[in-house]
Amino acid sequence: MSSTSFSTTPTTRNPLTEGLPLRRRPAPCSIVIFGASGDLTMRKLMPALYSLAFRHLLPEHFTVVGAARTAGSDDSFRESMLEAVKTYARDEFRQEVWDELCAGMRYVQLDETDDSMGDSLTGMLDRIDRERGTLGNRLYYFAVPPSAIGPLVEKVAEDRSTTGWNRLIIEKPFGHDLASARELNEEIGRYFNESEIFRIDHYLGKETVQNLLALRFANGIFEPIWNRQFIDHVQITVAESIGVEGRAGFYESAGAIRDIFQNHLLQLLAITAMEPPSDFTADSVRNEKVKVLHSLHTPGPKSVVRGQYGRGFVEGVEVPGYREEPGVAADSDTETFVAAKLYVDNWRWADTPFYVRMGKRLPRRETTIAIQFKRAPHPPFEEIAVEGLRPNVLLIHVQPDEGLSLAIGAKMPGQGMSIRTVHMDFLYGSAFRYGLPEAYERLILDAMLGDATLFTRSDEIEEQWALVDAIVAAWSRDRVAFPNYAAGTWGPPSSDDLLHRDGRSWRRH
Ligand code: BG6
Repeated sequence: MSSTSFSTTPTTRNPLTEGLPLRRRPAPCSIVIFGASGDLTMRKLMPALYSLAFRHLLPEHFTVVGAARTAGSDDSFRESMLEAVKTYARDEFRQEVWDELCAGMRYVQLDETDDSMGDSLTGMLDRIDRERGTLGNRLYYFAVPPSAIGPLVEKVAEDRSTTGWNRLIIEKPFGHDLASARELNEEIGRYFNESEIFRIDHYLGKETVQNLLALRFANGIFEPIWNRQFIDHVQITVAESIGVEGRAGFYESAGAIRDIFQNHLLQLLAITAMEPPSDFTADSVRNEKVKVLHSLHTPGPKSVVRGQYGRGFVEGVEVPGYREEPGVAADSDTETFVAAKLYVDNWRWADTPFYVRMGKRLPRRETTIAIQFKRAPHPPFEEIAVEGLRPNVLLIHVQPDEGLSLAIGAKMPGQGMSIRTVHMDFLYGSAFRYGLPEAYERLILDAMLGDATLFTRSDEIEEQWALVDAIVAAWSRDRVAFPNYAAGTWGPPSSDDLLHRDGRSWRRH
């Protein structure tokens, strides 16, 4: 298979600020991170704040308040965040960047069940406003389990800043089902407007996901063929090679359907299938996505497959089965893999299947969206000449190897008319030559700027849960013997059958 590359016009722009231009610098503010001693803060949030500081994208006197139940001090918080930055940040460590960020770091121990919580936090924030000029602008990041969100939001609301803006970033999972998500939406909605609520789905912050919007709506050539007339089907894969990584407590009650399908997967599908928005404002984009989510047909039991991994080998290393992972019940029925055939019941997509699959302990990490076009109606070549020619596929590599690849038929050099599939590739790495921002950098900055375009609105979350509830209800009536796939394979055989029944197969790995 040969490969052709697109090149880009050389640019004189500064690679450090590319993608997140300087004009995006927000007003002075503080961020309060609830769940400051958690894994997310260490691995993602603090490294993202460091990378923003590295690029001078944070406002002057920016302040980070870590809040958690564990006892701690400003110094101990700074120390653990320094460790987080050195271990996980994508940028090199620079003492001067750290010193500036560190000067604005505070820690407060709090417990949402404690009535005096509000006083210690508000006292600290008021002091910060006076001493550091943060103007009463406050971004509260809830990196805590759903049960802790309601009580914390209530306290925050009691002491909301009256001199600046108050915004909330709420981590996933947003509820456990439709009823709990609605309850949480109502609870938060009692105190804050939708424009102040930023429900995070970090897949929307990934460059390649935003590039899908650019691909579809900034180019004239794709939209006319982006429909049932030209597209045979779509395949979306969210594959991970990792297992549950010590998160059994959460994962046992979530499974792949709540952890990935309900949010990341459905958002990828919505962006792939949505109509062009009239503009790129938060409401226009989200109105179009919610229409897609609302049009999703509830799949019948035969159209959804679930799996759980047993022992196996991933990337040459032997790994335990899910039921052998620490904290997992020996007879756990939690699924670590889901595949489904979904239909978007609207004019553009009627009868066009969207095959989706996601799972842990698959052979490799790969998130892709494959748009498979219909075959040419009448190829005027002999059968033998087109051996090895596959239908055109536009493959969007969300991660890793971020980019696009278009599979086309081309004549092989030489006598005769032999045709083979070749690929035209666009790779972020070679076209732009500098690292992509982490999703959290983009999203935290957007929230500081008050731009909710890449966050999930309450009605989207509820549509997503309605579909998940229907699938889970059907599962409760039909048991599957687990484990049913070996770690390091592409899921249970029933996942292949799902496509074979339609005369199709998953994209070759
Ligand atoms: C999280 C899930 O939302 O996304 C994890 O809870 C999963 O289970 C992670 O591993 C995958 O994110 P990414 O960015 O590594 O694809």
